[in-house]
Amino acid sequence: MTPKQDLLAKLANRSAVIGIFGLGYVGLPLVLRFRESGYPVLGFDIDTAKVVALAQGRSYIEHITLPGPIEATTDFARAASCDALIICVPTPLSAYREPDLSFVLNTVEAIVPHLRAGQVLSLESTTYPGTTEEELKPRIEARGLAVGQDVFLVFSPEREDPGNLEHVTRTIPKVVGGITPACLEAGEALYGQVIDRLVPVSSTRAAEMTKLLENIHRAVNIGLVNEMKMICDRMGIDVHEVIRAAATKPFGFVAYWPGPGLGGHCIPIDPFYLTWKAREYGLHTRFIELAGEINRNMPEWVIGKVMEALNDRGKALRGSRILVLGIAYKKNVDDMRESPGVELMGLLVRRGASVEYADPHVSEFPRMRKHRFDLKSVTLSPESIVKYDLVLLATNHDAFDYEMIRASAKLIVDTRGVYLEPAPNVVKA
Ligand SMILES: NC(=O)c1ccc[n+]([C@@H]2O[C@H](COP(=O)([O-])OP(=O)(O)OC[C@H]3O[C@@H](n4cnc5c(N)ncnc54)[C@H](O)[C@@H]3O)[C@@H](O)[C@H]2O)c1
Repeated sequence: MTPKQDLLAKLANRSAVIGIFGLGYVGLPLVLRFRESGYPVLGFDIDTAKVVALAQGRSYIEHITLPGPIEATTDFARAASCDALIICVPTPLSAYREPDLSFVLNTVEAIVPHLRAGQVLSLESTTYPGTTEEELKPRIEARGLAVGQDVFLVFSPEREDPGNLEHVTRTIPKVVGGITPACLEAGEALYGQVIDRLVPVSSTRAAEMTKLLENIHRAVNIGLVNEMKMICDRMGIDVHEVIRAAATKPFGFVAYWPGPGLGGHCIPIDPFYLTWKAREYGLHTRFIELAGEINRNMPEWVIGKVMEALNDRGKALRGSRILVLGIAYKKNVDDMRESPGVELMGLLVRRGASVEYADPHVSEFPRMRKHRFDLKSVTLSPESIVKYDLVLLATNHDAFDYEMIRASAKLIVDTRGVYLEPAPNVVKA
């Protein structure tokens, strides 16, 4: 049997051991999906706390429940026992807003000494076109293994939408691109067993670019509605009313909603992976830069609206007590990465306001790289809300009692269009 035949047979009869590297928002759902399909799964992470939690059957992500203990390890030598190796580690930006591939490369370098013929390696982390071919392939070949004959290399981007109950790992179509046709075949054999619909593309570069297009599409359209929001505000028009009306068009319009800025691991970061790579080709990604500029400016614009709202009531921001509602980056999740709500807290404090927060999904302000607040989530009641000079609605969790908040707050600045009806104590931002 060739290494490919051996691998395909194991994938088909579900005896293939699936190794998943990086057990976060992307990796953990994948572990569960392969497990429920009957595959033996081994998780890998450098974070011992996660490995320990999984062994105890304890989830560290709010919307994910574990069916029981999950086997995971920090010992990368165990990669040799796996038939499939799937990498789901972070791909952030450096301080200079350039791709930071260090997590991916560290993982690959830890895996490579344990590679053997008959394995499929899939990169899922979002990255620029060319990463799999230029960074992963040579490292594998340096071990003396031929890609496409011994080891099969694919890129298959994750399309996770945490908190979205309508679309789950199995039902979200999955794009796969291989370095060679045999690699693609192995990638399809791997994912075809656990995902309802695969979308094969001609290369790893096409697969990498597909993921970037999806996220750039969102970033640019969010930039557009944020600009529309600022224009509508100046013209005295409610942008949310306008978007709701436009969205009734049954073709050719997709509704995007403005907000206090971009958040999460993907949309504020991924487009700049392409910006960086395009420079190598002498190209300038103008839409990405423009959307980035507008979206990054939103928190400052919101602060301007907060100051104006207080000023209209004879108050200065300095010394005001402000309650920020919702500090996760989007509704109904506990994910704080790049959250504009947190950035707003920082900007308010810098201007001398006294800030607290309420978020039913974040009971205690976590340790973050850029922000430190020694705070616990305030319990919302008419008595607690009335103490604040202003309530800044940053994230529209379903768990908030919006009617009670409106009835009790002295002043609300609503960045999410929750309050459609005009009210004397509600200012839209
Ligand atoms: N979160 C999403 O909704 C989402 C959606 C689509 C794509 N992505 C992409 O998927 C990738 C992972 O994102 P995430 O949200 O799961 O990140 P995450 O931070 O939730 O999880 C990453 C995990 O990788 C671990 N890790 C770091 N270095 C490692 C190493 N060398 N070896 C093994 N494990 C290591 C971390 O400890 C962490 O547990 C990123 O490229 C991201 O852009 C994320």
